[in-house]
Amino acid sequence: MRTKDITSANREAWEEAAPIHRSQNQESLIQNFSTAGHSCLDDIETTQLMALDIMGKDVAQICCNNGQELLSVKNMGAGRCVGFDGAQGFVDQAREIAKAGNIDCEFVCTDIYDIDQQYHNSFDVVTITIGVLGWMPDLEKFFSVVSALIRPGGALFIYEQHPILDMIEPAKADTPIVWELSYFNKEPYVDTSGLDYYGGDTYESKPLYSFSHTMSEVIMAGINNGLTVEHFEERPEHISMTWWNVENQACQLPMSYTLVMRKA
Ligand SMILES: C[S@@+](CC[C@H](N)C(=O)[O-])C[C@H]1O[C@@H](n2cnc3c(N)ncnc32)[C@H](O)[C@@H]1O
Repeated sequence: MRTKDITSANREAWEEAAPIHRSQNQESLIQNFSTAGHSCLDDIETTQLMALDIMGKDVAQICCNNGQELLSVKNMGAGRCVGFDGAQGFVDQAREIAKAGNIDCEFVCTDIYDIDQQYHNSFDVVTITIGVLGWMPDLEKFFSVVSALIRPGGALFIYEQHPILDMIEPAKADTPIVWELSYFNKEPYVDTSGLDYYGGDTYESKPLYSFSHTMSEVIMAGINNGLTVEHFEERPEHISMTWWNVENQACQLPMSYTLVMRKA
């Protein structure tokens, strides 16, 4: 399948999930962001963004979903904030929350691979968080798009689930680990059990195509596209909504990482 066919199929599955997430989250998000300065960010992300001196900086978020993280970044004191996501249903939710909280953020509905050139060299910081890279069939092309958005001297901040988790079948906390895929698997993982990771229900969904990218592939894709590594830390914290079975193992695996790359 071509990159476009994959991202179009995934967009349909995310659109299908948008009203489900909306019914679970939208009311409380609107309420929370009606309080001035509200942030949904955890301590790790907040600390990293503070270290990037986010105050007054222009920030873009790649695959911003319902916008809650970018709205929090804006509430931390960032300058212009633009979120990009391919699913109109989530972009509409983000705009609704921003409007309710009177928060000045822009949300753009676009496939990341098609981000308009008007956004090139426009941001001091670009963020990618929790559950994005796995949806990208072509990592090199993805990083070339992301790198083009960053101004010279600006930074890319990634806070993601660790790719080693892709090897393991996700399960509830009291379930043993089942190793499912090679770390070096290159076939798309096709799933039709849905995206209800808040409610925890499964449903017969449109097909979702996800990809395993090794840690070195992620770092090298950044380097190959004009970025240099400034910070990299593999972490024990579980930041996804899926691998509860891995969380409290005595022999601990890395569950997440933070990575900062700088554009010369
Ligand atoms: C799990 S969310 C991650 C975002 C955020 N960190 C969060 O936790 O809500 C993944 C988002 O990526 C978007 N997405 C996936 N592939 C995309 C693509 N090719 N272009 C634009 N958005 C995409 C989906 O619409 C979805 O909103």
